[in-house]
Amino acid sequence: MKIGIDKIGFYAPHIYVDMEKLAEARDIEPAKFTVGIGQSQMAVAPITQDSVTLAANAALEIIDDEDREKIDFVIFGSESGIDHSKSGAVYVHQLLGLQPQARAVEVKQACYGATAGIQMAKGHIALNPESKVLVLGSDIARYGLNTAGESTQGAGAVAMIISANPRIMELENHNVYLTNDIMDFWRPIYSDKAFVDGKFSNEQYILFFNKVWEAFKSKSGLNLSDMEAICYHLPYTKMGLKALRTVIDEAPEEVRERLLENYQISTQYNRNVGNIYTGSLYLSLLSLLENKEDLKEGVRIGMFSYGSGAVGEFFTGVLQPNYREHLHIESHQRIFDTRKEVTIEEYEAIFEETLPRDGADIELNIEQDPASIVLSGTVDNKRQYVNKN
Ligand code: HMG
Repeated sequence: MKIGIDKIGFYAPHIYVDMEKLAEARDIEPAKFTVGIGQSQMAVAPITQDSVTLAANAALEIIDDEDREKIDFVIFGSESGIDHSKSGAVYVHQLLGLQPQARAVEVKQACYGATAGIQMAKGHIALNPESKVLVLGSDIARYGLNTAGESTQGAGAVAMIISANPRIMELENHNVYLTNDIMDFWRPIYSDKAFVDGKFSNEQYILFFNKVWEAFKSKSGLNLSDMEAICYHLPYTKMGLKALRTVIDEAPEEVRERLLENYQISTQYNRNVGNIYTGSLYLSLLSLLENKEDLKEGVRIGMFSYGSGAVGEFFTGVLQPNYREHLHIESHQRIFDTRKEVTIEEYEAIFEETLPRDGADIELNIEQDPASIVLSGTVDNKRQYVNKN
């Protein structure tokens, strides 16, 4: 039985910062951000968006009534959880109006959470072929104003339905995974900003990629020539390229050219959104599928997932017949076309705006946020969500 991605949707907040202007404001050569890091725009989350609303908005566009009846497992991959106890999945389950006989849990391992979710979903579908699983990867990346990590922030979510006989991509079973306890990036429970050992994190990302890639080749018997493209977890678009360059010489010239060209296409959305942690790898996949018009059905795509701390995984998927008919290209294009640029001063003010830390009630101005699902405030320490439609 084929199991894989049946639907895939994406959401990013309606405002962004221009990276050249951010560089100028920080007295940095703009090319460092646009070329050295490889980012052009960075999505900014208004206070009315959190990991729950971003995920629910991403799922909203792909879910239909049949999905509402058949989804019996919601897996919320995130490292921007809004509660130490209750999972974001339970909120999303309610906001989407899914049938009640479902499991709903949150999975955490830095940027690896959604990949863990997909693998759990595969197991669930193998045992329950009639059901569907909603896997979410939703995050707001925050390092702090004027920090080295600032240029690698972002916000957004990807939602995927995993099912039998998937219409977009069959997930193959040659997965190779790796865990090692390291401190390259972490966020203690008391902090709303990540701590990072930037250079070390870059080195570990590449080391993990090299290790899982070597093991994948021996396990599967496949090599670079068998891949139409490799999509990477993209904390910033230069990162995956650095990893790809460490192995590219294994391939003949024509394969090298193909992988490098497809790599650029797979980074287009990420370049204009920034790091969305758990969703980044899947945003890169979406970027490739939606922006490469002549990508043929039946081709194999390699996927490298990395979550600091750290867990890495390499796996593959095969594109299904007519997969392009099941993408939501126009609505994703609309997200980019209707976004509004904010000035650096506005972005800084939005960044500093947080919910009251003493638990006081607050009512937020939801009119400024065009998203369907928004956070409208807190009452008695409970977040209040509104679906405007
Ligand atoms: P930095 O120290 O500001 O930058 O930190 P740099 O000095 O290393 O320069 C960056 C690149 O710009 C270099 O390119 C420079 O040469 C180039 P490279 O040599 O590395 O190819 N550069 C220029 N290029 C053109 N024109 C110029 C110019 N000047 C310099 N004028 C760093 C960069 C990424 C470390 C920082 O932003 C950071 O700490 N970010 C957060 C951590 C991160 O993203 N790590 C990535 C791997 S870990 C991961 O992916 C997991 C993660 O997503 C979290 C999770 O799992 O939850 C982060």
